[in-house]
Amino acid sequence: MNSSSQQNQALPKSCIVGVIGAGTMGAGIAQVAANSAHTVILFDQSQEAVQRGLEFISSGLQRQVKRGKLTEPQRQSILDRIRPVTEIDALADCGLVIEAIVENLKIKQGLLAELEALCASDCILASNTSSISITALAAQMSHPERLVGMHFFNPAPVMKLVEVISGIATAPQVAHQVHATATEWGKLAVHAKSSPGFIVNRVARPFYAEALRIVEEGATDIATLDALVREAGGFRMGPFELMDLIGHDINYSVTCSVFEAYYQDPRFLPSLLQKALVDSGRLGRKSGQGFYSYADGAETVTPDDNLPSYAAPASIKVYGDLGVAEPLIERAASAGISVECLPIDGQEAFIEIGTVRLFLTDGRFAAERAATTRHANLAVFDLARDYSTSKRLAVAFADQSDDETRQATIGLFQALGITISILDDIPGLVLMRTVAMLANEACDAVNQGVCSVADADRAMIGGVNYPLGPLAWSDQIGTSSVFNCLNNLQQSYGEDRYRPSPLLRRMHFSGSRFHD
Ligand code: NAI
Repeated sequence: MNSSSQQNQALPKSCIVGVIGAGTMGAGIAQVAANSAHTVILFDQSQEAVQRGLEFISSGLQRQVKRGKLTEPQRQSILDRIRPVTEIDALADCGLVIEAIVENLKIKQGLLAELEALCASDCILASNTSSISITALAAQMSHPERLVGMHFFNPAPVMKLVEVISGIATAPQVAHQVHATATEWGKLAVHAKSSPGFIVNRVARPFYAEALRIVEEGATDIATLDALVREAGGFRMGPFELMDLIGHDINYSVTCSVFEAYYQDPRFLPSLLQKALVDSGRLGRKSGQGFYSYADGAETVTPDDNLPSYAAPASIKVYGDLGVAEPLIERAASAGISVECLPIDGQEAFIEIGTVRLFLTDGRFAAERAATTRHANLAVFDLARDYSTSKRLAVAFADQSDDETRQATIGLFQALGITISILDDIPGLVLMRTVAMLANEACDAVNQGVCSVADADRAMIGGVNYPLGPLAWSDQIGTSSVFNCLNNLQQSYGEDRYRPSPLLRRMHFSGSRFHD
């Protein structure tokens, strides 16, 4: 193994990097390593596959030259550093070998046995597996301490994140050196303990699951939900657009694999709606039809935003501290609405418009809040990433409320320049429940020692482009608000799926935040 003085340092540029499997991921990883001045030996069992891999790299680099991101000589020298081979013996002098072959435990174990016999004892062996346990992969190795997960995201040259996965036997210095190497290669590296879904594929599950459930329950349509997640949440894509892009076969199988790996924990329950898409062959963009149609001339599906215009209220009262939604006060004042702020003791904050009360959703049905506060004219509004700029917001009305509630609520938000999406009365609406569940999952991963708070957030920003790390977002909303929302969701649905992580519960009682 490497000496301790080298343990936190990247592998030297003189280190030859072997990449096994010249498919989608292997070709991308070879390009990343060659781009960082390493000599790369790209091995695949089939000549055709290596050739295809090289062409894939070459055309990708060509596009970069066209966009002015790379010069032609740079492109050529990256390509010159990649040596395509079809004999495994060519990997004998490598200092790091990354395998990106078919996702099959037995086949990967067989390959690792061959590599152990072939490579020097200080050669680090890495696997790009997305779902197999690093601990299980290493089980039959003579030196399991030298195996580490190096989980790139597709497309590897573009996506910033690399999850560095330690199995039960992985030597810490191996994980540190691979982390430093990935960083040197321009990647955002995070450490994770080998566990189902690692960080990203675990923490991201609720992003899809809650959307699927909300639509399954008929609370809104796919286009409205996607628009809310993009425009109110600041995510680059809505969950339905993203699932169509990933492919429902892949997305559904990742969910099933995480669900099974966690012994059918209801938190990861797969969706029957998504299964129906898979069963019918509606796999998303690649099959021309998923939630949306991608056929030539298909109509673009957009949210139905045609609400009548209602008068803006002349004045509103704000009782208590609206917390994360406070910027709405400033926005109302800027819209010429007179705002009176009043204290309220021990009760939840709300906005009052005449007889109407507006609350930030807390994971309960609006109907339940109307019943418990004995105030029928009640509406709830959703979380927004930034209430000072958000152009869209979801609201729901208590079944007990009257027409005036509807008109006053819509009138207020219209005056603020916010497009309202009216949802059926579901607990936690769209963003609050999604973000609460993402934060809960990230928190549980931290609680189980899978990753640090910082790495959980970094992984979700770098791996799936979230606008904010879920734990930083929880800090913004308030630990107790997130905890209460989950508790209420658990109560509303009567399901364990929404149970708060023990760490979140503890932090709620100690008044703690994730980040200082
Ligand atoms: P792929 O099917 O595009 O490529 C696999 C390549 O490995 C093929 O070229 C095949 O000829 C070669 N191969 C198979 N068995 C081999 C062996 N015994 N020796 C040498 N070459 C062999 O697969 P893809 O998508 O690149 O995935 C590879 C690995 O990366 C899998 O473990 C997968 O779970 C993981 N991964 C995939 C991601 C994706 O989005 N496709 C993302 C992150 C990880």
